[in-house]
Amino acid sequence: MAARGEFSSRMAFVLAASGSAIGLGNIWGFPIKVASNGGGAFVFTYVVLTFLLAYPILMAELVIGRHAKSDTVRSLVKISSPGTKPLAFLTGYWGILTASLILSFYAIVAGWMIAFGLGSAADLFGANQYSEWLTKFSLERNLVFVTIFYVLTIGIVANGVAAGIEKWSTRLMPTLILLILALIAYISTQDGAGEGWRVYLQPDFSRVLNPDLLISALGQAFFSLSLGVGTMMVYGSYISKSENLPRLGATVAVMDIGIAFMAGLLVIPAVYVAQTNGVTIYNEAGALIDSDGLIFNVLPALFETMGAAGVIVSLVFFTLMTIAALTSSISMLEVPVAHAQESHGLSRKAAAWFVGAVILTVSVVIVFNFSTLFTLVIDLTTKYSEPLIGILFCLFAGWVWKRNELLKELQQGQPDMENSLFWKIWPAYVRVVCPVIVLAVFMHSFGLLNL
Ligand code: TRP
Repeated sequence: MAARGEFSSRMAFVLAASGSAIGLGNIWGFPIKVASNGGGAFVFTYVVLTFLLAYPILMAELVIGRHAKSDTVRSLVKISSPGTKPLAFLTGYWGILTASLILSFYAIVAGWMIAFGLGSAADLFGANQYSEWLTKFSLERNLVFVTIFYVLTIGIVANGVAAGIEKWSTRLMPTLILLILALIAYISTQDGAGEGWRVYLQPDFSRVLNPDLLISALGQAFFSLSLGVGTMMVYGSYISKSENLPRLGATVAVMDIGIAFMAGLLVIPAVYVAQTNGVTIYNEAGALIDSDGLIFNVLPALFETMGAAGVIVSLVFFTLMTIAALTSSISMLEVPVAHAQESHGLSRKAAAWFVGAVILTVSVVIVFNFSTLFTLVIDLTTKYSEPLIGILFCLFAGWVWKRNELLKELQQGQPDMENSLFWKIWPAYVRVVCPVIVLAVFMHSFGLLNL
């Protein structure tokens, strides 16, 4: 078998894993959830949950992956005893299925981002008849752009870890950060931005423990760190044994929160600038317009009020969205592709194009049955599968895997691990705290437990 791929440096891993974590979840999902959950309270709860619950699970995935250095199914099997092997298979395949289904809806949204970006480019050149088609919801438009987005994603993954994922993540992530900063700078010069920052940054602490807010924040924390499908496990499997894992994991978590926070600094004030410019930002019920209305109606309406500058701002914004989506979608596709390659002997190129084509087919089915399938697939994967698989990953790291082997793995790259704060706290966390809390929040969402 050919040598396994590996990230060429610490920086390469951090950029690739942050590239996975930072995506539409940060720049699209996070501000929308902030808007629909009353501003700062959501930001506060989300940050706390990320460190308390999501970071420990991220570590479970990274450490299992780096230990086994294999695709997710084989990695879980490798740390199992004979008795738990069936559960390892089940968890691994469930993760692969979930990663694929997440890609199948994510790519549709990403396609819209490309279309809106091209729409602004068309406006720039005065080709308004095209921009109308590009920014209007239609079956044809959705089919064309979802396919384009798959070709980009597959093209990168087909080139493997170093020449594909790493190369593009290290190019695209710094670009993304620069674009966000430029947009924040621009928005801050506009009337109304201050009001947006106030709503965003002043938490109403009475709402912090609101059960709906908690569930929403937990789901966001999982989705945003790409947890509960095996993405971080496969990326972990490409980390060199000389790296300090807890530190790498913390860097990725901080980057992820940081960019979500910056996206909020951009999008929430933008909504209030829009209001100042006469765009409707509240719905009939008096709440802020959320869901896709925020990104695809309010923001474009805002850009329109900005005249010539608005076209450029819009182009930059949707380019940013496309880049963020691409470095995430490659990490989703990597989960089934690594499995096809390592467990079933396909070449990387064949695996990427074959698996990619199968998942594209699923997307096409969703596009044709949009009103019934789109939200259903999002809910099934992100509300249910991810948290449940996350718990299973914790059980594997905390109970199935032998504790001294786990320690040995962590000591690679950090010889004094046994005396570290991480080792004092984390094992109990993955064994007990994370599964119990995730399960409690999860049962609450089913109405089985009143929090
Ligand atoms: N974290 C990405 C975002 O915020 C999405 C993502 C990438 C993801 N890989 C994943 C979500 C795996 C769940 C599972 O947009």
